[in-house]
Amino acid sequence: MVEKQQDHIQQWVSKLVDYKKQKIFGGRNPMDTKKKRILDLISLDGQVAIVTGAASGIGLATAKLLAEMGVTIGLIDINESDGIDATEQIKESGGNAKFFLCDVTSDSECKKTVEAIHKEFGKIDILFNNAGVIRRKNVLDLEEKDWDLIVDVNLKAIYLLSRHVIPIMIKGKGGSIINNGSGWGIKGGSNAVAYCAAKGGVVNMTRAMAIDHGKHGIRVNCVCPGDVDTPLLRGEAKQLGVDEETFMKEAAERPLNRVGDPQDIAYAVLYLASNLSSWVTGTTIIVDGGGLA
Ligand SMILES: NC(=O)c1ccc[n+]([C@@H]2O[C@H](COP(=O)([O-])OP(=O)(O)OC[C@H]3O[C@@H](n4cnc5c(N)ncnc54)[C@H](O)[C@@H]3O)[C@@H](O)[C@H]2O)c1
Repeated sequence: MVEKQQDHIQQWVSKLVDYKKQKIFGGRNPMDTKKKRILDLISLDGQVAIVTGAASGIGLATAKLLAEMGVTIGLIDINESDGIDATEQIKESGGNAKFFLCDVTSDSECKKTVEAIHKEFGKIDILFNNAGVIRRKNVLDLEEKDWDLIVDVNLKAIYLLSRHVIPIMIKGKGGSIINNGSGWGIKGGSNAVAYCAAKGGVVNMTRAMAIDHGKHGIRVNCVCPGDVDTPLLRGEAKQLGVDEETFMKEAAERPLNRVGDPQDIAYAVLYLASNLSSWVTGTTIIVDGGGLA
């Protein structure tokens, strides 16, 4: 008898809960509604992105994260074997991606590659200009060919790719371009004169591009990383002729007490690519564990 009464009470309570859910959430589970809202905000389902320097480090982490968010990725790099490997990793995790061998300092290769990506995927919504190189030299010991290489890969390539991608974005009624700068685009650093010059150019070029192409619905922003654990950073120890472990320890000396993980930068790129940043353009986001604070 008591059991029957308990059953009855339980049925009555669950009917009341259903009634309240219906009234407040129109029959939807409130947790599902919250999850859907979050996914709607950051999901880039169906979009197409170009990521340069995608075979390694920050580019690779970003290509993977964007692919997880539903983006089809055209990976660009000069390192063919690592680029193909990165593409396979994305595909194995269920993403859609294709590798394109391209030297971003060559206008003809940029043109050909952008055309091939457009033909393959039908549009381009996101361009992450990320490929980069560094030479730890000052004005006195830097050779002219290295000045040209640093400025061409880090700065000129943004112009070259953008000039081929922007007309496609205009046809598609908008897009998001994210340029990878550096903390050294904002302040100077020792023995990296060409890199600092190029990255300073990236920061201000971003503002100029944002002004020019806002009317086309194209947002242009810059992310400025601090020291991130990638082959580029570790390679600096070798260039400077210092012990790698000591170099990495010193690089971690910042308010958040660690070097960055490539994923830390990918999160900022995701924000700049998504609708969460729909009114953000011409800006620079510093992601550096407080290094410039
Ligand atoms: N790692 C850091 O501490 C740090 C800090 C600030 C800014 N950044 C910037 O982040 C970006 C990515 O650097 P990372 O640390 O991931 O380096 P990384 O060396 O891991 O990756 C750079 C990628 O760019 C590719 N690349 C180089 N030249 C190219 C060219 N001409 N054409 C096409 N691809 C080319 C390389 O093959 C490589 O795969 C760079 O622009 C770098 O300046 C890095």
